[in-house]
Amino acid sequence: MRPVLGIETSCDETAAAVLASNGTVLSELVLSQRDHSAFGGVVPEIAARAHIAHLPAMVAEVMAKAGLGYGDLEAIAATSGPGLIGGLIIGSGFAKGVAIAAGRPFIGINHLEAHALTARLTDGVDFPYLLMLVSGGHCQCVLVEAVGRYRRLGGTIDDAVGEAFDKVAKLLGLGWPGGPGVERLAASGDPRRHALPRPLRGRPGCDFSFSGLKTAVAHIVGAYPPGPLPATDAADIAASFQAAVAAVMADRAAHALTMAPAARSLVVAGGVAANGAIRTALAGEAARAGVQFVAPPLRLCGDNAVMVAWAGIERLRLGATTPITQKPRPRWPLDSPEMAIA
Ligand code: KG4
Ligand code: ZN
Repeated sequence: MRPVLGIETSCDETAAAVLASNGTVLSELVLSQRDHSAFGGVVPEIAARAHIAHLPAMVAEVMAKAGLGYGDLEAIAATSGPGLIGGLIIGSGFAKGVAIAAGRPFIGINHLEAHALTARLTDGVDFPYLLMLVSGGHCQCVLVEAVGRYRRLGGTIDDAVGEAFDKVAKLLGLGWPGGPGVERLAASGDPRRHALPRPLRGRPGCDFSFSGLKTAVAHIVGAYPPGPLPATDAADIAASFQAAVAAVMADRAAHALTMAPAARSLVVAGGVAANGAIRTALAGEAARAGVQFVAPPLRLCGDNAVMVAWAGIERLRLGATTPITQKPRPRWPLDSPEMAIA
């Protein structure tokens, strides 16, 4: 099989990568849009304009770095959903154009599948495995049985975990996205200073809830006079919040592992997988359950095109292709029938 070009534009990262069919990364680029920080969140229209401004040159650059022409590719893979529709139209439309011009197939990739399969690229993880998919837009627990076969065991009933980090960061006057800032601040704080709630801990199943935790933080912050918090107090709040999230994640993972006894590994993926306290808590649960723990390298936790190209390779190996007429989808659950490989 020849190399595969991957394109990612579902949120606020514009990314392109070329992978050899064995998964070797021949070239990769990620541009994290910074234009959204003033708004405290991703503005879809600004994101779409940034994708169209940067994607063509980035694709040309990864192809040049890989030393390839478009005709040398096996296929062109692009995220087709879920995500912001403007970005999805740009990335998948561009990929289809290249595919038609080069006479190569297009593969529309589910962004969640790309996160889900990353552990197979980095660590060769075997099926079935339990995936905690934790990002700004998603928070779910999935049994990965095969490429295209995903069983959702639970998910958030309110906020995604990354969203909770972002909201707490805002309360603490930190920049956006909030996760990295909260983690940095938490490093110097006392996680026992505030006894924050551990939503759903001990409940059966592996659903999540974070809005109550965020509200509890808002109450603590609201008790201070307006203006910046004293630095040590802010650090203690960040550390207490992070400890509560890590405890909840560990509890939910432990439950999920009992729901899926066939799982041989516990895998964490998505932007929040970069968090050290959460990694440590999940690694502890995996060790207790006697399964392998896998967290991707930091550069592959957030959105990137390496994972998109890899998902394309996994699908191509099984003979799966996508009709060029496939429409980008803002919503596209992993367990939807269209994911299955015939
Ligand atoms: O996967 P991702 O890059 O984009 C989405 O698909 O959502 O995830 C972004 C999310 C943001 O909410 C960000 O605050 C969070 O991941 N995040 C973190 C950390 N790094 C990024 N949360 C906690 N700790 C981190 N170190
Ligand atoms: Zn993502």
